[in-house]
Amino acid sequence: MPRNLIVCLSALATIGSVVAQRPANTSICDYYTTALLTDNSAANQYTLLTLLVNTAVIGNYTEPSNGVLVPGILNPNGVYNGTAVNLLPYFNGCDISTNNDTVFNLTTNPPISQNFLDGGGAVPLMHNLPANDTTSNQYFLLTHLYQYFGVLLGCSKYNTAGFPAYGGVGSMYRVHQYMALDPNEIGYFITQVGLSAASFGVASSDINAVANALFSLFSYKCSPPVTVVPAQGKVLDSICVDSESRHREFLFDQLNGFDVVDLSVFISDSNQLNDIEPHHVLLSDNLVSFSDQDKDQ
Ligand code: HEM
Repeated sequence: MPRNLIVCLSALATIGSVVAQRPANTSICDYYTTALLTDNSAANQYTLLTLLVNTAVIGNYTEPSNGVLVPGILNPNGVYNGTAVNLLPYFNGCDISTNNDTVFNLTTNPPISQNFLDGGGAVPLMHNLPANDTTSNQYFLLTHLYQYFGVLLGCSKYNTAGFPAYGGVGSMYRVHQYMALDPNEIGYFITQVGLSAASFGVASSDINAVANALFSLFSYKCSPPVTVVPAQGKVLDSICVDSESRHREFLFDQLNGFDVVDLSVFISDSNQLNDIEPHHVLLSDNLVSFSDQDKDQ
């Protein structure tokens, strides 16, 4: 058994006992790395993200002492809002929903089917690894998820030795554009991330802050560009392009003078998050959509 897994598993024995309130100036990543793995090192922050993402993807693979069950993103029998959800075909190559290269041109590079479970599937994830190798689609998908969610959760050691910087495509809109994801599919995915965090003893206030941020950033059709990964700058991040998805007000940024420059600050201060909640207004579809105006972004 790999050493980091032994450390993790022994840390997990304490799960459910993270009861103290997270200080407002400590990010979710830093706080729970310290709480669960003691030393707030880059390697431990990366391990925390590995635990969180792997559990969200395949469901519980460690016994949660608090009994929170995680069905998992790959579970073909998912349910969200009373609706059956099956995300597996997007990952196992059954759907033709993956970008062919990073040209993002429907005519010259139409979508392809790609198997993202080609690095051993669930087994390496259960051993706290991204894949059995370092070259598979699975390896790149999983490591990119650790890195991206590391930014979202404000990991202070992100982009230092032991915690690689995000190596994937910046725009989440581009990454997911051919999946045409609907609100239930996105809701199911985000719920698995939340349940995974809950299974490790993350406080419900922190889970709500993260879930709100995920819905806010990714689930509103035609959201204006936003900076999540600082090195990427402002990019289109809405992954909910299905006709059922709600539109976000086009002038959101300009009207409110609000710019998400540093999401780690954004997430670690839930008051800021509450501040923008009232602006999540449901707008009619006849608003000029951002992506219609600027398809090249
Ligand atoms: C809700 C927030 C979500 C976030 C923040 C997110 C984030 C990401 C990131 C960072 C990547 C890696 C991109 C790269 O390697 O360049 C990715 C890839 C992927 N995501 Fe998501 N995702 C979300 C929701 C979903 C949902 C709901 C699905 C539904 C099936 C999904 C399916 C996929 C697939 C299949 C890939 C591989 C795509 C590729 O590499 O071309 N994601 N996602």
